[in-house]
Amino acid sequence: LRTFSREVAIPSVLRIGHRGASGHAPENTLASIWKARSFHVDFIEVDVRETSDGHLVLLHDDTIDRTTNKSGTLADMTLEQVQRLDAGNWQRIPTLEEALDIAGQAIGVILELKVEGIGNEACAIVKRTGFSGPLIYASFLIAELHRVRQADPDARIMVLHHRRLPPDPIADVLALNAAYVGFHYSSITPALLQAYHDLGRQVFTYTVNERQDIQRMRELGVDGIVSDYPDRI
Ligand code: G3P
Ligand code: CA
Repeated sequence: LRTFSREVAIPSVLRIGHRGASGHAPENTLASIWKARSFHVDFIEVDVRETSDGHLVLLHDDTIDRTTNKSGTLADMTLEQVQRLDAGNWQRIPTLEEALDIAGQAIGVILELKVEGIGNEACAIVKRTGFSGPLIYASFLIAELHRVRQADPDARIMVLHHRRLPPDPIADVLALNAAYVGFHYSSITPALLQAYHDLGRQVFTYTVNERQDIQRMRELGVDGIVSDYPDRI
């Protein structure tokens, strides 16, 4: 067992449901979060964006085209317009508050900040909802993570790396005092993993769906595996 906090003992590989459990239910919906909960995941990962009237909602793409019954750019739509969309299986696009409510105390949450300028509001919502489970702010947008760090000096932060790694993949992690780093599973190497572990950081890999890849990540010794099928981990 590895200890996440003083109170919670967790398995040595964290099981993380990607966009809920998006292999089983429409991604980034409440149904998908419920599905992940039913698999007793350690965390769900969800994508966060902002509507034109300043509400934070769950959506991966900058448009609604791929995942709903209409088309358009989310940032040009009000929450009311967004909530009329069908996100699959009669699901709506949920607000961040609704997602945190559904996750409850049962599972941890990784909030991936997909756009600049939402970190402060995300921190405020987390505080307002009283969410007290483990929560990690993740992003590829380093400037946004610095805003989170300013808003909440105690925030748990995860630096996400694209498949193509930056020249120094450790610098941002140190500058942000980030406890976590997220890699595409094809980019992580034993030497990099060891370097992060030597610094006391946890390494998560995304998005690992095939059973042989999940097995390979476990053998490599990563700390968390993000999957559309967390039930396979
Ligand atoms: O966990 C990180 C992963 O979700 C990043 O990729 O495109 O699925 O948001 P993406
Ligand atoms: Ca994501």
